Amino acid sequence: MSAERPEAFRAPVGMHDVLPPDSRAWRDLVAAFADRAERFGYELVITPIVEHREVFERVGEATDVVRKEMYDFDDKGGRALALRPEGTAPVVRAFVQHRPTVPWKVWYVAPNFRYERPQKGRYRQHWQVGAEALGPADPALDVEMISFAHGFVRDLGITQVRVLLNSMGDGSTRVPYVEALRDYFRAHATGMGDEFLERVEANPIRVLDAKREDWQDVIERAPQLTEHLSPEEQQHFETVQRGLDAIGIEHELAPRLVRGLDYYTSTTFELAGDALDAAQNALGGGGRYDGLAEEMGGPPTPGIGFALGIERLLIAAGAEHAGRGTATTVSGVDVFIVDHLGGLEATVLLHELRESGLRADRAYGGRSVKAQMTAANRSGAAFAVILAPDEAERAAVGAKNLVSGDQLEVPREQIAGWLKLRLEGSAVER
Ligand code: HAM
Repeated sequence: MSAERPEAFRAPVGMHDVLPPDSRAWRDLVAAFADRAERFGYELVITPIVEHREVFERVGEATDVVRKEMYDFDDKGGRALALRPEGTAPVVRAFVQHRPTVPWKVWYVAPNFRYERPQKGRYRQHWQVGAEALGPADPALDVEMISFAHGFVRDLGITQVRVLLNSMGDGSTRVPYVEALRDYFRAHATGMGDEFLERVEANPIRVLDAKREDWQDVIERAPQLTEHLSPEEQQHFETVQRGLDAIGIEHELAPRLVRGLDYYTSTTFELAGDALDAAQNALGGGGRYDGLAEEMGGPPTPGIGFALGIERLLIAAGAEHAGRGTATTVSGVDVFIVDHLGGLEATVLLHELRESGLRADRAYGGRSVKAQMTAANRSGAAFAVILAPDEAERAAVGAKNLVSGDQLEVPREQIAGWLKLRLEGSAVER
């Protein structure tokens, strides 16, 4: 057997375990997103973690996400597969495969894999919640998507968020624009290095979102997409802006916001979180991809969506709440059983309480009564139910209020109902 690598039993670089109690914030975030999605008329979609490599090539051969960062591999049958780097291409692939009726409005929560240089807010596995809608080209849907994403971020208590808005045009305006941009960059390529030229030739739009300081001067003065929009695109873009104004969502025009993926057309947007480090301050982003379904062999079908990074949302929410006491919900159980009897009664009662809908737990391994009381207090439970010989003789149990310390005797047969009555009253406080 080969020698084990010292890091073998640690999570891979750039990937993280989420353990309790931190996982509680995740669970609450996903539940809140699910509720909001349903309120907006979106249903859950689940696609595989791996797809054929070609699905993601549609995301853009010239993008870092596909060119440098994809976790791709051949399976044992020789199929070229890749771990999902993002969620839109799989959803559109599923749409093309199953041809559901439109409008098709779906939401998802899933991990994504990008071989990036890890740093705070940038990981090799990150999670997204997102939504996609296929069918309508109506700008009302663009407004809906932005308000869905923006409202969710605000619901998490994140106030430092800005909506950045741009339009990428459509096929007819994009081609001449890309040519104009390429010509401009070629004319300014002296001293910019090989990577610059490579990007200019592969896709000059990918120069616009480059972070390199020494390129910024040339980028600042580059021709802008919104100057090249067709009248229809211009009208669509203005309607989206008026829609956002009408529902009071402030937005900034960001002419160099091109997003890191190649499928975008028309409206694109990003939610910038100002509590995050500037290098990765995007809480989320999205836009239209009106050509993607057709590129995957489906009928021409407009589409739009967004995704938010869960880790970044939690960092931003944590940063804003620091020092003000967090709004995280209390986890744990309602009832804890403290067992002096040592027989099957604790197992039977616990089963009964849980099946009646209560959140209940116990200590294991025949621990001392004192240790069980400590565990009960730690569990966050409002009540301990004490199983002791004296009470058992009278077919009763002890019910101890762990907040006030008061203890009562309650008939064994009535304990589930008794607890439910009292817990319903206090549920809000917990
Ligand atoms: P994206 O901008 O590549 O868009 O990713 C969306 C969000 O995921 C980012 O704004 C960020 O919060 C988070 N994220 C991305 N990469 C990482 C990473 N390495 N570590 C931590 N968080 C990260 C998309 O993926 C598109 N599919 C969004 C979309 C949906 N467009 C249309 N529909």
